[in-house]
Amino acid sequence: MGVIVAVDGPAGSGKSSVSRAAAAALGFGFLDTGAAYRALAWSVLEQGGDPEDAAAVERALDGFAFESADDPDERWVRVGGVDVTDAIRTPRVTAAVSGVARVPAVRTRLNEGFRARLAAAEPGVVAEGRDITTVVAPHADVRVLLTASAEVRASRRAKELPDEDHSAVARSMAERDAKDSRVVDFLEAADGVTTLDSTDLDFDGTVAALVTLVREAAGLE
Ligand code: DC
Repeated sequence: MGVIVAVDGPAGSGKSSVSRAAAAALGFGFLDTGAAYRALAWSVLEQGGDPEDAAAVERALDGFAFESADDPDERWVRVGGVDVTDAIRTPRVTAAVSGVARVPAVRTRLNEGFRARLAAAEPGVVAEGRDITTVVAPHADVRVLLTASAEVRASRRAKELPDEDHSAVARSMAERDAKDSRVVDFLEAADGVTTLDSTDLDFDGTVAALVTLVREAAGLE
């Protein structure tokens, strides 16, 4: 089995871009688990379902065929062969995703797919989300909680969304974290999980810190 690196963290912590860059630097695969939750939320909306209605979500889960690039230098996400790479990042999907993620059958099904991807990864994989260190891969070789202060996370997210009001971005991020953390706790590091605080680090510094952690913990050169 390859080296499994599990990274969790709140919205705006940079975990997706940092994990992707670290995977590329290590020559590992990459798995963005949030993309699967987003893709399912997209499917529910596409079918005209209400993402707050568990029955509608379970209907969309039936036959849900999610695929995403393993290669960190590629970015595609597909559902049943349809490219949804950009569609899953719209504010409409972002607003719908917490409802979908709280349905237990969803978590069970998606976790099976994630674990199969991790088991097949050679020479390793960086998987990121909210419950990778605790539920999906509690025995991962390296387990990291990537955090940053709420102010820094909000201002990073606002830079990605220059047309939106800064305080509205901060508010919606805090609301989503509050909703999501009722389902899985990603705000505190579980036992054995290393906290990497990027508040005072830039992007390259955070990637370098993660790569160093992985090399040390996994005994790589
Ligand atoms: O990381 P992200 O913003 O793309 O995640 C989208 C949503 O999916 C987020 O609101 C919480 C949920 N999620 C989850 O519940 N468990 C995961 N492992 C990953 C994401």
